[in-house]
Amino acid sequence: MPKGSLRGRITVPGDKSISHRALMIAAVAVGQSRISGLLEGVDVLRTAAALEALGAGISRGGNGRYQVDGVGVGGLTEAGQVLDLGNSGTGARLLMGLLATHPFTSFFTGDESLCRRPMARVAQPLSRMGAQILARSNFRLPLAVIGAPVPIPVIERLAVPSAQVKSAILFAGLNAPGETTVIEPEPTRDHTEILLRHFGVAIRIEESPEDGRFARAITLKGYPEITARDVVVPGDPSSAAFPLVAAILAQDSEVTVTNVGANPLRFGLYETLREMGAEISFANEGEAAGEKVVDITAKSSRLKGVVVPSERAPRMIDEYPILAVAAAFATGSTVMQGLSELRIKESDRLTAIAKGLTACGVAIEETEDGLIVHGTGRPPAGGATVKTHLDHRIGMSFLVLGTAAKNPVGVDDAGLIETSFPGFAELMNGIGAELGAPA
Ligand code: S3P
Repeated sequence: MPKGSLRGRITVPGDKSISHRALMIAAVAVGQSRISGLLEGVDVLRTAAALEALGAGISRGGNGRYQVDGVGVGGLTEAGQVLDLGNSGTGARLLMGLLATHPFTSFFTGDESLCRRPMARVAQPLSRMGAQILARSNFRLPLAVIGAPVPIPVIERLAVPSAQVKSAILFAGLNAPGETTVIEPEPTRDHTEILLRHFGVAIRIEESPEDGRFARAITLKGYPEITARDVVVPGDPSSAAFPLVAAILAQDSEVTVTNVGANPLRFGLYETLREMGAEISFANEGEAAGEKVVDITAKSSRLKGVVVPSERAPRMIDEYPILAVAAAFATGSTVMQGLSELRIKESDRLTAIAKGLTACGVAIEETEDGLIVHGTGRPPAGGATVKTHLDHRIGMSFLVLGTAAKNPVGVDDAGLIETSFPGFAELMNGIGAELGAPA
């Protein structure tokens, strides 16, 4: 069992959210875009394959370098095959948006996890834009998007804080006349807005006070000329979280992850870890394709439990599994609430985390929309094989728990880790962890 220290200076694979968006926007740009640092996880490769089937030219240069020959706004053509987005909610929802205003029919499917996830949140606004969505009960995949013959621009107010829904509507608005506006009462990751601007699209953002907060209205005008651009994708802060939290939990450790995307709307985990007492520092601030990047260093730290404000949830939505693992090592209780969205991610993450932590000897309460983890300030027992439920982040979080628990921790299926973090085990072992097949 690895109790030793973790040390090193590493990079993590490219940002998943930005990688999907870079491919999609480049596919409807005019000319050839070059993307470097693209995440070559299964999820993103599915998006690339779907865009190729829809007429975009995509060639791989190796090592995350890609060239995309765009077809221009509205220039995608009917695919001769079903678009299989694998495990990826982002791939499926954003592409549904892009295709909702292309006047042909597209068939979507995905793996068992994706076929369970709700698509009504995108299907409904896209229907108002003139698309027809034919789906089985509860708007789940497999489904067909019959693109609007006469697209209608809309003003949509998001019912759930979701960057995927926002992006789907904005992508649909690219091939609609007039102005399309999305109003978000709670800010969500703004990679779509940043990247569209990078490709020369005028995006108007207006903020207005509403119930003591600021609602953002994001507007674009249809049929813009999108010009091909180069994109350098930063490292994924959601992936960097795993080696950094592992360093915080292990003895005598210090790990730096360089060139990590530092979009403030993705950085809630690092705010929370600092509140818990983690030694985290930032250096070498820079910029890539309009996104802030930074090097992050984390050192072994003693953590204390905190109450995580629910308004922070959109800024750390994918990081609750690894935060719950950190909380299991903290002294005192960590309260996480306002998380009903976690029940409809790649798995029901609230239940998956609660069951996994219980199996590892951690006291945890699961509520309807949250978790309370009771840490003792000592490493948990571990010694369990945790079920991942086709969820890459559950898998990686519990493998990190195992690096510092009293007994080894296994996961029933590590295969899905490839969707977002190819080379996860090798990278962790390179800093001193001992992940591998059970003896
Ligand atoms: C994502 C948005 C979030 C996040 C997902 C990626 C994106 O989902 O959980 O992993 O790239 O827009 P929601 O939009 O459903 O909150």
